[in-house]
Amino acid sequence: MYSMLEILILAAGKGTRMRSDLPKVLHKLAGKSLLGHVVDTAHELGAAQTCVVYGFGGEAVPQAMAEDKLTFVLQADQHGTGHAVKQALPRLSDDSITLVLYGDVPLTHTTTLQPLVTAAGAGKLGLLTVNLTHPDGYGRIVRDADGRVRRIVEHKDATPTERAIHEVNTGILAVATRYLKRWIAELKNDNAQGEYYLTDIVALAVRDGVAVEAHQPKFEWEVLGVNSKAQLAELERIHQNEIAQALLDAGVTLLDPARLDVRGLLTCGRDVTIDVNCVFEGRVDLGDGVQVGANCVLRNVTVAAGTRIDAFTLIDDAAIGEAGRVGPFSRIRPGTTLARDVHVGNFVEIKNSRIDEGSKINHLSYVGDTTMGKRVNIGAGTITCNYDGANKHRTVIEDEVFVGSDTQLVAPITVGKGATLGAGTTLTRDAPAGELTLSRAKQLTIMGWKRPVKQKKED
Ligand code: UD1
Ligand code: CA
Repeated sequence: MYSMLEILILAAGKGTRMRSDLPKVLHKLAGKSLLGHVVDTAHELGAAQTCVVYGFGGEAVPQAMAEDKLTFVLQADQHGTGHAVKQALPRLSDDSITLVLYGDVPLTHTTTLQPLVTAAGAGKLGLLTVNLTHPDGYGRIVRDADGRVRRIVEHKDATPTERAIHEVNTGILAVATRYLKRWIAELKNDNAQGEYYLTDIVALAVRDGVAVEAHQPKFEWEVLGVNSKAQLAELERIHQNEIAQALLDAGVTLLDPARLDVRGLLTCGRDVTIDVNCVFEGRVDLGDGVQVGANCVLRNVTVAAGTRIDAFTLIDDAAIGEAGRVGPFSRIRPGTTLARDVHVGNFVEIKNSRIDEGSKINHLSYVGDTTMGKRVNIGAGTITCNYDGANKHRTVIEDEVFVGSDTQLVAPITVGKGATLGAGTTLTRDAPAGELTLSRAKQLTIMGWKRPVKQKKED
């Protein structure tokens, strides 16, 4: 009957128990705001319009979500969920279905929501309910003798008999917008909280002969909201566990699925192994056979097949080639590309550089703004001096160069193919290809020199 879907996200609440200046829905779960998760769900469901009702925190919410093509409606004072929906009604089309979601309920699966949308499309009211062991505080679902939903009664308005009901309202529902507009206009606030309850539309639907179809989520946590930091932490673990289980199902070896954090999208090839306490942020792609050691942080990184990232390595915005070795204790910064079979060892920092096939930087070095050729060997303690205090300059190191230990390359500078730089060199001019270049004070020995001895104090 209806097909166009519009999604309304209620997000005006203050979230007092978060004890934070940040609006509740902007707190992050798995690196993304709670509201961001709900917006993603709306996009996945194919919403023609997603409308966010905001209030607490002023423009912080629209500003944070500026890139998401959303409609924002301000609910300056909060007089209940029915009042919140009312603010958005003029923005919704009469011919659509409205699905109501909540900015602080981040983990609902689309497969849980789809049946509600389908019910609404068939002219019914789709309602998401859940059976809770401890239903205190929630609206209760009142059914008749035939098991049909009749109405919802809020905890504060409920009789002791009604409070004994364990089936509760999640708040999530879908219905034809035309009906929603009619019923919202009829809401009254003569209840225990003096609020306009969205939940009262259920009784109005029953009155108007609109069937109410209740569905339940597969998992209880899909409908859990965040009201405190403790609940946020709880949902974070649940979500992380879900991600870890999916990786295990896909054949990834996780040394401990409880000690993994994915804050974005992690994709893995075959036979990938991830040791404990690794954090993956943004988009990370690990190729076949990649091994990630303990305590690594990878942010917007691709790692090609067969490469090993050893413990305590931090990689940020970089592409790591195949069959390589990085770490332990390496830091790879934005703009870095490592070709195949590159080795980067402990206490090496690389920034905005391209390192070609087979090159090795194994110990204690800084390589910045550098273009390095194939099969280069960089000795321990090498530093590219890329910054003159005002501008950054490039260092070019051609194929098969050998750089001795403790060398500084003062950029802009080029080291020609096959050149050797002697240990301790401070290179300030280009080094010619194939030759040994070094800058070094001549070694001398002062024969018979004596160390000073401590003078005896006279007292
Ligand atoms: C609501 C439901 C209750 C359900 C429970 C599930 C009503 C009247 N009651 O109760 O049946 O069991 O959710 O969690 O709907 N909000 C606004 N503007 C407002 C009021 C609320 O945007 O004026 C938003 C809040 O930010 C929050 C959500 O709506 O995200 C729910 O509001 P809340 O006050 O927590 O609802 P409850 O009273 O718990
Ligand atoms: Ca309330």
